[in-house]
Amino acid sequence: MARINEHYRKLRAGYLFPEIGRRVAAFQAAHPDADLIRLGIGDVTLPLSPTLVDALQRAAAELGTPEGFRGYGPARGGYDFLVDAIRTHDYEARGVAIERQEIFVSDGSKQDSGNIQEIFGQECAIAVTDPVYPVYVDTNVMAGRTGPADESGRYTGIVYLAATEENDFSPGPPDTSVDLAYLCSPNNPTGSVASREHLEAWVAWARERDTVLIFDAAYDAFIRDPALPHSIYEIEGARECAIEMRSFSKRAGFTGVRCAYTVVPRELTGAAADGSRIPLNDLWARRHSTKFNSVPYTVQRAAEAVFSPEGKKETGEQVAYYMTNAARLREGLAASGFRIFGGEHAPYIWMRTPRSISSWDFFDRLLDRGHVVCTPGAGFGAAGEGYVRFSAFNTREKVEEAVERVRGAFESGGAAG
Ligand code: MLT
Repeated sequence: MARINEHYRKLRAGYLFPEIGRRVAAFQAAHPDADLIRLGIGDVTLPLSPTLVDALQRAAAELGTPEGFRGYGPARGGYDFLVDAIRTHDYEARGVAIERQEIFVSDGSKQDSGNIQEIFGQECAIAVTDPVYPVYVDTNVMAGRTGPADESGRYTGIVYLAATEENDFSPGPPDTSVDLAYLCSPNNPTGSVASREHLEAWVAWARERDTVLIFDAAYDAFIRDPALPHSIYEIEGARECAIEMRSFSKRAGFTGVRCAYTVVPRELTGAAADGSRIPLNDLWARRHSTKFNSVPYTVQRAAEAVFSPEGKKETGEQVAYYMTNAARLREGLAASGFRIFGGEHAPYIWMRTPRSISSWDFFDRLLDRGHVVCTPGAGFGAAGEGYVRFSAFNTREKVEEAVERVRGAFESGGAAG
């Protein structure tokens, strides 16, 4: 008899985005002529830029030659050409030295942020911000690191740090000790961004408490203020306490192409049962080489091209386009009386629902009355109740039209109430 992993039965409902997809599909079936505007899942909409397409095509042609053919990729995932481009452009350019052996190239930060918990002990206590990218929580539930969920959807055994208007949606470290803490900046879903001082406080706390920070920087390309840190390693001491994830998905239109990377510094260790300290880099290398066979050569060449002068220019223009969308959403919704957050250094707008309408009610009403898809804040955690998220990934025209439709759908009371 194949017994199932009982921990899966603790998971609340389905994963957020399939549930949204189900509701949208049901709406569309009932209203086949409705012209929907999708600002729900954060999926890029602009086509791959010409320089990246060219790199993909050239790499594909290379694979069709005896000299250029390649089979399995490197054990740590990344070919040296990409790993070196990452070290130079993402790190050295910001004064951070990262070694080749510390970079693990993968097919997505979703996978990496979900899988990283495998190298930690079952008894590890974890902390997350609330609202939170659901992958951090669900993968720990699946692994059996929590008890059941309560009415609000919070699992026993997890320390939730409420991200609220009062703390600018960037909660500081807790008073209690935990073994792992997940941070995401720029933040999905609230669109907030961590300042240098904020990250310094987290790093100091983590070092004092012997906690590992899992820092998800998948949206770093959307930071507009050059003074804000892009990497946790810009903070002194972070190499001893932090793992970092970055992605090409949103910065270069790779949500379908798939390429990302995780940095595990050599100094970073975890405690073994016999009291010795074990480098986490070795454990992640073991995990990566056992369960993963690298990202296609073609995709890695396209990722490398993101760092070329033309690639930087083209992808930079795409990011700027989305950020202008974010500004339109911010300004348009705020002008209609809604309370708006985020969207200045992230492609997400976090909005308080008017008149205390619940997140899912707002979602349903906006879909029904305005034919606009957003993401209910409650889907990201109990503290997301009363908020919704709008993604800036769409055309300018649709974003502007969506602002009008949100206004129209909730006309008699845009005011946050
Ligand atoms: C989101 O909408 O939150 C993201 O697209 C999810 C993801 O990147 O996996």
